[in-house]
Amino acid sequence: MSIDKSKKVVFSGIQPSGIPALGNYIGAMMNFKALQDEYDCLYCVVDLHAITVRRDPKTYGDQIRRLFAIYVAAGLDPEKNIIFVQSHVPAHSQLSWILNCYTYVGELGRMTQFKDKSRKHEENVNAGLFNYPVLQAADVLLYGTHLVPVGQDQKQHLELARDIAIRFNKVYGKIFTVPEILIPKVGARIMKLQDPFHKMDKSEVENLNNSIFLLDEPDVIISKLRKAVTDSEAVVRYGEDKPGVSNLLTIYSCLTGTSIPDAEREFEGKNYGFFKNAVGEAAVAVLEPIQNEYKRLMSDRGALDAMMKPGAEKAEGIAKNMLKRVHDAIGFI
Ligand code: TRP
Repeated sequence: MSIDKSKKVVFSGIQPSGIPALGNYIGAMMNFKALQDEYDCLYCVVDLHAITVRRDPKTYGDQIRRLFAIYVAAGLDPEKNIIFVQSHVPAHSQLSWILNCYTYVGELGRMTQFKDKSRKHEENVNAGLFNYPVLQAADVLLYGTHLVPVGQDQKQHLELARDIAIRFNKVYGKIFTVPEILIPKVGARIMKLQDPFHKMDKSEVENLNNSIFLLDEPDVIISKLRKAVTDSEAVVRYGEDKPGVSNLLTIYSCLTGTSIPDAEREFEGKNYGFFKNAVGEAAVAVLEPIQNEYKRLMSDRGALDAMMKPGAEKAEGIAKNMLKRVHDAIGFI
């Protein structure tokens, strides 16, 4: 695929850390899949971003492969989309340095993710963690991206990317496309199964029953959903006063394509046990084929690594042009 001028460009990335959770699948990957026919999409394994936290060199390569394989297994077509690994395209690091010089320390210090993460990893508040949003801006701006599908938690980073683009363009003319942020309406917030007031997380450590991981065995998926917290009303109804049940309804609705009101009707008069089993079966029906394809892809590392090449080459072709325009704009010779 080359970038077709008549189509808008979509870019998004996921960090190769942990195993994506059902929340990531519904909130991100299902959305990516829905965009692949209408837009020119780039989906990136952001392995440079993920080293703001120490990674074990023995396993990091497989973590990167795993996310790439999950992208493909989840239905992102490598022919239709540019699926690639960030570190395979050096322009990301190169543009990132340049953009650092157009970003203010004050702006980066206000990022809530930086504040949260530096509190969480007090022992390793590195400059990469601070500059993280600048690399993210480089990711997006390299490809003339129009739309960035992300969760609510990334909104602030993308607003900064927009500010950087506007600031750069003011000095040098229209070099960058100012990206729009695309936050999915439904499914953007799949909550923890045991604590439906907080977002389901792939880096869940406290209670593994909170998250369904994409590679959980079917019986584990069913059992985690059976244990999900509900309430004492025993009515399958969506409502702010029913966070647990509403979360399960959202999961069911996203996975089966049934609307919430239709799902409520489907489970009218049914008890929570019946409802939870149905959600579990819906999750297994979606995840099992993905897992089978994932296992097939991971069983041949050589073939998988070869699959990464065309994406990296296509991305590099586009990114190099943009980097050249930026260099010329600045006056590098
Ligand atoms: N920061 C994003 C996250 O943690 C991942 C990411 C990196 C990204 N580069 C991006 C998302 C560019 C969208 C566009 O979820």
